[in-house]
Amino acid sequence: MTSSPRPRLNRTVADLAPSGIREFFELVQTVKNVVSLGVGEPDFATPWHVCDEVYNSLRHGDTHYTSNAGTPELRQEISDLFARLYGVQYDPAQEVLVTVGVSEAIDLAIRTVVSPGDEVIIPDPSFVAYSACVKLAGGTPVLAPMREADDFKLRADTVRSLLTDRTRAILLGFPNNPTGSVMTRAELLPVARLAEERDLLVLSDETYDRLTYAGQHACFAELPGMWDRTILLNGFSKSYAMTGWRIGYACGPADLLDAMTRVHSYTMMCASTPAQVAATQALRGGEADVQRMKTAYDERRRVLVNGLRDAGLRCFEPLGAFYVFPNIESTGLTSKEFCRRLVEEQQVAVVPGTAFGPAGEGYVRATYATSMKNLKKAIGRIGGFVASL
Ligand SMILES: Cc1ncc(COP(=O)(O)O)c(C=O)c1O
Repeated sequence: MTSSPRPRLNRTVADLAPSGIREFFELVQTVKNVVSLGVGEPDFATPWHVCDEVYNSLRHGDTHYTSNAGTPELRQEISDLFARLYGVQYDPAQEVLVTVGVSEAIDLAIRTVVSPGDEVIIPDPSFVAYSACVKLAGGTPVLAPMREADDFKLRADTVRSLLTDRTRAILLGFPNNPTGSVMTRAELLPVARLAEERDLLVLSDETYDRLTYAGQHACFAELPGMWDRTILLNGFSKSYAMTGWRIGYACGPADLLDAMTRVHSYTMMCASTPAQVAATQALRGGEADVQRMKTAYDERRRVLVNGLRDAGLRCFEPLGAFYVFPNIESTGLTSKEFCRRLVEEQQVAVVPGTAFGPAGEGYVRATYATSMKNLKKAIGRIGGFVASL
């Protein structure tokens, strides 16, 4: 008797769709001479003094494990940064955990607080990993649509309409990838009140906090009553041009951070030691670099927004991160069709808005973390493409 083979994959993994970004970039790789506004990573190299510090540390044999939570020096610098920027206090010994990129911090935070069957509210559109990590933890992502008419901000009434007895947490990501929207302190307050009223945890991914172009970033943990129910997630990839180092961190109340550190100690042991040296140096001497890169992004942001508007696309003005999210409905194409034809006909890569959630239909994401020369070339080609339709 032949029995059918047993499935080889975990059921949740088997059902996990590939990221819409990866799917699209497989197509892009088949096209020659592409100008890419696709991948969300700085075109700048990591500041030289950061690399230099790491060379020195390697020469001195600094190649061993660190404590699970990260080096005391780096945790102290992270704690000082939050005190300095936002007046938020974290004890470096118990309330800061160094992770492998913000990516690990997101996964850890979700796995630490979500039990099977729990629901997590996730703004839509947003970073591709949120929903996937919630599913991997056995939870259910509940998408809260954000609209262009609301400047892609998360409305508390939308969140309220989605709450159930199973809602465990709200996952925020502002400045937002992919829209570039930001939320002010006043706009976050109703969300905070809801979290308090319904006893929810808030996981706040503030990866782009240093990249805001109008006004000061609002740190969620700083809002009244929020410190004790918030896990802040942040890192070095975007602000310090350190994507390849894979270094980030989480800050939050000791009970939650202690549990996250336990999970991290079994799965990662610790973040890479050279990357921790790099991150420490970035915090000690990298402020001028952050400002230099931010000034360049701001200039490019204006050029890209104006260029897309001149090309005939309605383009919401992004005030954070390094993405624009133009509306492409006037072309009559879906987001995927627009991206596929743009890369095939004009060799420009942008990402379908639907890669970030269903509310992204009708939009595409383009990044301005690329040279002005590339941006201008891309704008010319996008203009030609839209005019040809
Ligand atoms: C909102 C957001 N969070 C987290 C990440 C992951 O960052 P890291 O390179 O630190 O893992 C990204 C990367 O694109 C992002 O856009």
